Amino acid sequence: MPMIYVEGRDSFEAEEGKKLVLNLEDNGIDILHRCGGNAKCTTCRVEILAGDAGPIGEAEATILYAKGLSDSNIRLSCQIRVHTDLTVKPIMTAADSGMEPGNRPQD
Ligand code: FES
Repeated sequence: MPMIYVEGRDSFEAEEGKKLVLNLEDNGIDILHRCGGNAKCTTCRVEILAGDAGPIGEAEATILYAKGLSDSNIRLSCQIRVHTDLTVKPIMTAADSGMEPGNRPQD
């Protein structure tokens, strides 16, 4: 089982193949997903501090470029399927933003 390390928070065993956003939320990590996991809002973005988040898809690359998020370590957690250990830092949270997280992304 891959491990997810969240900067400043706990670490936990992730479910391999499951979206990172769901692995985070289901393990008590505050993360937004305002568009429901459709690569539209970028509120689920995380900084990848260590590990291989896998290749970036066209939809993810397009919205990150459109929003001016050009740092290659910034990824959308709704577009990542966990397959190895990762160290991540959520960037937007419900607690910080005052927003509701959004609809749960599909598995
Ligand atoms: Fe909206 Fe990931 S881009 S939830």
